[in-house]
Amino acid sequence: MPKRQQAVKIAASLLAADFRCLRQDIEAVEKAGVNLIHLDVMDGSFVPNISFGPLVVKAVDQLTDLPLEAHLMIRRPDLFAEAFVRSGADTIIIHYEAPVSLHSTLKLIRSLKCRVGMSVNPSTPLAVLEPFYGELDQILLMSVNPGFGGQKFIGSVAEKIKRLRDSLDHQGMEDLEIAVDGGINPTTAKTVIENGARILVAGSAIFNSPDYEQAVRFLRGTEKEGPCSRN
Ligand code: DX5
Ligand code: ZN
Repeated sequence: MPKRQQAVKIAASLLAADFRCLRQDIEAVEKAGVNLIHLDVMDGSFVPNISFGPLVVKAVDQLTDLPLEAHLMIRRPDLFAEAFVRSGADTIIIHYEAPVSLHSTLKLIRSLKCRVGMSVNPSTPLAVLEPFYGELDQILLMSVNPGFGGQKFIGSVAEKIKRLRDSLDHQGMEDLEIAVDGGINPTTAKTVIENGARILVAGSAIFNSPDYEQAVRFLRGTEKEGPCSRN
């Protein structure tokens, strides 16, 4: 099957989960058929919010067999990547905007036998990613400014996905997956899938829904929202 037609993966962002009953929420998204658990790590410096660290990632790892991706919105991913791998992260995503030596940080993560991703903020141009193509398993395009869940999808990112997919295919990087993070709902999901995204990160669209299974089907586009099914 051509890569562009491959199945879409849904990554549930736990930022929107109910931390009073994390176990139940994790079991529920697993049952709903998500493919990945997305863990938003924030340090209060790279982004104006603080979330959680390796301790929580380790607990989540003990609660699920789903692959974990740690999205490090922190200034020093070079110092902390190893702790997240040891806590059970299967993929580490660092930000292009982090003020560290990016090539050596990617190399360090790879040496820990972990999948590697790089993320760019909505205003960062795609051209900066090209030198890293060969070192990455996935590219995460932020479709909101990082730091908070529940924001509105920034429309201009839709076209950015298309341009990145074209650039990757042009350079023989068909296996390099594009993930999109922020403001994903059934409507924006349809657009980003059409434009070449293969991993959709979603927090609010899943956890704020009364029916996680239906929410996931809406995101995949395997069930359409009708006038009576809107949450
Ligand atoms: C934002 C985070 C996102 C966010 C997604 O900094 O990286 O993963 O939690 O949340 P929603 O789906 O609510 O936009
Ligand atoms: Zn994220």
